[in-house]
Amino acid sequence: LEGFLCVIDDSASAASSMEVTDRIASLEQRVQMQEDEIQLLKSALADVVRRLNISEEQQAMLSRKGPTKGTTQTLGHLICWKVLVSRSRYLFQLCILSQLQHSVLLFLDEGYVKMYLKGRPITMYMPRDLVDTYCLEAKADLPPKKLKLDWVYGYRGRDCRSNLYLLPTGETVYFIASAVVLYNVDEQLQRHYTGHTDDIKCLTVHPDKITIATGQVAGTSSDGKQLAPHVRVWDSVSLNTLHILGTGFFDRALVCLSFSKSNGGSWLCVVDDSNDHILSVWDWQREERLAEVKCSNESVFAADFHPTDANIIVTCGKSHLYFWSLEKGSLVKKQGLFEKQEKPKFVLCVTFSENGDAITGDSSGNILVWGKGKIIKGLAIQGAHEASVFALCMLRNGTLVSGGKDRKLISWDENYQKIQTVPELYGPIRTVAEGRGETVLIGTTKNYVLQGSLDGDLFDCQGHTDELWGLTVHPLKHQFLTCGHDKHVCLWDSASHQPIWTKTLEDAAQSAGFHPSGATVAIGTQMGRWLVLDTESKDLVTVHTDGNEQLSVMRFSPDGNFLAIGSHDNYIYIYAVAENGKKYSRVGKCSGHSSFITHLDWSVDSQYLVSNSGDYEILYWIPSVCKQVVSVETTRDIEWATFTCILGFHVFGLWPDGSDGTDINAVCSSNAKKLLVTGDDFGKVHLFSFPCSQSRAPSHIYGGHSSYVTNVNFLNDDSQLISTGGKDMSVICFTLNKLSADIFINIVYHQTNCLCLFIQQDQMSMNNRKRRNNSNPMRQDSEEVAMRHIGHQ
Ligand SMILES: *[C@@H]1O[C@H](CO)[C@@H](O)[C@H](O)[C@H]1NC(C)=O
Ligand SMILES: *[C@@H]1O[C@H](CO)[C@@H](O)[C@H](O)[C@H]1NC(C)=O
Ligand SMILES: *[C@@H]1O[C@H](CO)[C@@H](O)[C@H](O)[C@H]1NC(C)=O
Repeated sequence: LEGFLCVIDDSASAASSMEVTDRIASLEQRVQMQEDEIQLLKSALADVVRRLNISEEQQAMLSRKGPTKGTTQTLGHLICWKVLVSRSRYLFQLCILSQLQHSVLLFLDEGYVKMYLKGRPITMYMPRDLVDTYCLEAKADLPPKKLKLDWVYGYRGRDCRSNLYLLPTGETVYFIASAVVLYNVDEQLQRHYTGHTDDIKCLTVHPDKITIATGQVAGTSSDGKQLAPHVRVWDSVSLNTLHILGTGFFDRALVCLSFSKSNGGSWLCVVDDSNDHILSVWDWQREERLAEVKCSNESVFAADFHPTDANIIVTCGKSHLYFWSLEKGSLVKKQGLFEKQEKPKFVLCVTFSENGDAITGDSSGNILVWGKGKIIKGLAIQGAHEASVFALCMLRNGTLVSGGKDRKLISWDENYQKIQTVPELYGPIRTVAEGRGETVLIGTTKNYVLQGSLDGDLFDCQGHTDELWGLTVHPLKHQFLTCGHDKHVCLWDSASHQPIWTKTLEDAAQSAGFHPSGATVAIGTQMGRWLVLDTESKDLVTVHTDGNEQLSVMRFSPDGNFLAIGSHDNYIYIYAVAENGKKYSRVGKCSGHSSFITHLDWSVDSQYLVSNSGDYEILYWIPSVCKQVVSVETTRDIEWATFTCILGFHVFGLWPDGSDGTDINAVCSSNAKKLLVTGDDFGKVHLFSFPCSQSRAPSHIYGGHSSYVTNVNFLNDDSQLISTGGKDMSVICFTLNKLSADIFINIVYHQTNCLCLFIQQDQMSMNNRKRRNNSNPMRQDSEEVAMRHIGHQ
């Protein structure tokens, strides 16, 4: 304990400039604090010993009556206390395991572990030298490092509108998946608001340009709880949540959000995605709903307050344009009449001119101007765009900018005369916003964000537009490649966060693997076809076809002489590779699996292959002759180059209780083999210690994705972790932080009367917690020392 109390204090270096007397005083104060903590620890430990004594007695009684050795029914004891010392905000966690046997795990003397997934037994042999020492009851440690969200690639323009704004800090704000990105283009920095628990669908900025409101869809948490759709109002400077609105009121999702402009921005209007698309108005600071009304039984695309009259709201959508007025707590509807004008199928966007006229863009390509709910004749721009007008933005200087499905950006003067056209942007234009200086920001339906002037443009960021599974990291450089069902392949530079190149394929891509030389990269598609690209030139090196099903994994042997391809047709295809990944000749196919291949790993010496399949088989192979290896004595001691298989002795601890075996999509060990990371079906990335060979291993859990995480991979030097989200199409980059001041004390107790203490500390997160506690009104600090008995099984 003394050792531990000494290391806590590495903040002393920060004080090096203090006067000696100040330092002595501060050290004395700290010694006093530490003494208090020792006292607390002592009493906590005394209580632990007392409870252990009780549990041991109960255990002894149980085992006297209960089943004896050799059966699988004996359940052990797991008792945990959490000791919260709030004054110094250290967290002590005391856990005692007494003769624990995992309910789905059985440990036998032959040196294997058996786990049940969906009732299917999976036998995993441990390396021979562990057989005598391995202990199933031992508790795994939390990983020694933590992840920090560093970069989110992508923007959701495909199906969301009005979701791109410039903040006074110079940051562009937009969202993808469940993360809001605040991106400073000049400094190449991103910050993230991560309060949401599922997909964000709309975002609006308060007239103060600091407060932001975002709305999310209904979701399901990893423990199966329903997460209600709601609005979060937050501060874009501190990233603190200020208010949460409408939990339990909204249905399905939120589609439109807007702050009022004329009354100091004290109201917020919201439209949800229920059948009736309820429009509601909120006093968001008081979290009070002022009015609600059924807006339309058809899709609603936009809702906005009139710029000078907070009692007027305009909504538009499929076959409607409504002018609502808020009168004595109810919203009164007035229909926008198209009169002689042909009624458009969709009114897609609305903005306001300085004098308060509403300007709409519609699916007929027209821009119409409305005064007091009536079309102002003579101001309409018929056929402004060749197709739907998706976006309208009124700039400060009175210039109107429109963007359309025809991919054009057009500017109009005060008299609605065309100034100029920017043709052919990267995809139909989803949203336009005022940028810095003379620039505008453009979001496209192809999930690109562009920034540029009205006569040119500048490439900014891009993402995938369909389901994303393929991810591979460059073996030598800070680069990675993604490929998805949108047929796009993109090589990214992880330092600049920019694409190095992109390429469009003929087929939807599913998987990818770099050759160990880095010179080429192999890409597997959904149709059995696979191809190899030159990493430098992106030129096609070769194309082959094996079967006609999805190729779920492409992996080169560490020596670069073989390529193994796992297919959904249950085969693993093996190719011999020469000339630095440029030449391929087929060796054969490994057949033996009774379900589709999900994961593959090579041995360090490139002699063996291990594979997992959709029905939870683990098979071993000699790929050079496509032969299966069944001898346990051969396979148990093979040293593996990577650990991406989701089943195996080194990783089985990652499976949560009651898992059905499909919850984990991807696994990856760090290159240094110290960490293991998983991507699950609940949008979470988990970080474990490696090896992960104790049941129910503890992990750090990270959000950001909103759909299942399809792939995870460490960069070549373990400096970053990249994860891909399937349906959310985002790529998220995490950096690795050393732990330094959450203090966890894990006590592992064996019946052999030994008591082990594992102590970990995490200075960084303690500082963060302090900061949060001081500034965040949502987080309350309990002032008592709480000792809680959390579970007894
Ligand atoms: C444990 O319990 C027994 C019987 O209740 C008691 O005699 C013994 O002193 C206890 N030991 C400790 C360390 O509290
Ligand atoms: C909405 O209501 C109109 C008229 O009441 C009806 O014709 C239309 O089919 C409805 N649309 C939907 C999507 O329910
Ligand atoms: C208005 O601003 C835009 C973009 O900032 C600029 O391109 C345009 O020339 C300006 N128009 C006038 C009339 O100043």
